[in-house]
Amino acid sequence: MARPEPGITLVGGGRMGSALAGGWIQSNYDGPIAIIDPQPSSQLTDWERDGKITLNPAPGPATTLVVAVKPQVFDKISDQIRAHVGPDTLVLSIMAGITLDSLARTLGTDRVARAMPNTPGLVGKGMTLLCLPDEASADDGDYLKALLTPLGDVEGPIGEDMISAATAISGCGPAYVFLLAEVMAAAGKAHGLDQDMAMRLAKKTIEGAGALMMESEEAPSKLRENVTSPGGVTKAALDVLMQDTAMPSLMEHAVGAAIKRDRELSGD
Ligand SMILES: NC(=O)c1ccc[n+]([C@@H]2O[C@H](COP(=O)([O-])OP(=O)(O)OC[C@H]3O[C@@H](n4cnc5c(N)ncnc54)[C@H](OP(=O)(O)O)[C@@H]3O)[C@@H](O)[C@H]2O)c1
Repeated sequence: MARPEPGITLVGGGRMGSALAGGWIQSNYDGPIAIIDPQPSSQLTDWERDGKITLNPAPGPATTLVVAVKPQVFDKISDQIRAHVGPDTLVLSIMAGITLDSLARTLGTDRVARAMPNTPGLVGKGMTLLCLPDEASADDGDYLKALLTPLGDVEGPIGEDMISAATAISGCGPAYVFLLAEVMAAAGKAHGLDQDMAMRLAKKTIEGAGALMMESEEAPSKLRENVTSPGGVTKAALDVLMQDTAMPSLMEHAVGAAIKRDRELSGD
């Protein structure tokens, strides 16, 4: 299969869809962009007015069809979506929990792919997982990776059997980090800090630690050790957090629960 012709039809111009389309527009994507959304946001109508996209095109085979509606909506509008799928259409779904098999069956094509973004993708700092059928061409994989770059980094293609575990880390992971900010700030407040200041300290510390981790050549464990002098203050806290029943085993347990739920929702 040759490299896909330029041209994208996006179904669902919500948060993720618009983040993708914004990136394609900004990077001067070299083909027409059409967006299907029954109630387009003012951003979408502005883009249409400026000639950057067309809205709600007539049915007909798309070259690349990106599906970014909620999974519950997908079931209801699958006939409408199928009207944009032709024999050569490459379909990319970012819907959580809809398997490659189910996409192929519902849309009547084997040329399907799925991706699992995460919310930092909304600010271009995401980690998106890409999953392709075994028979997909390398050209399709490269092209789809490029299409997903407005959301940040892309990992893959990974096997679909890995998607639940990977989702439990990068898809759900932002929630774990937001929880960390919440509980750090709450602990600061419990120990006498002003609530707003405690939250500012927690947020900035997480941002700074993340930036240091990404810029440093050292592993997170080494960076942790660098902050932890023997007998010091950080060590006192980590002795609590790293007890057998504390953070490491709690995280493993939590990720296990996420994987189980993802598999249930995907019908595995
Ligand atoms: N946000 C995340 O962190 C995240 C992470 C991983 C995967 N995903 C997946 O990404 C997908 C999109 O998520 P999102 O957060 O961007 O959701 P969203 O903001 O609700 O976007 C979905 C968009 O689809 C539109 N829509 C509804 N019915 C439609 C129809 N018949 N035809 C075309 N468009 C229609 C919605 O319009 P209305 O608002 O008017 O209904 C909305 O603009 C979901 O499948 C989700 O599972 C999201």
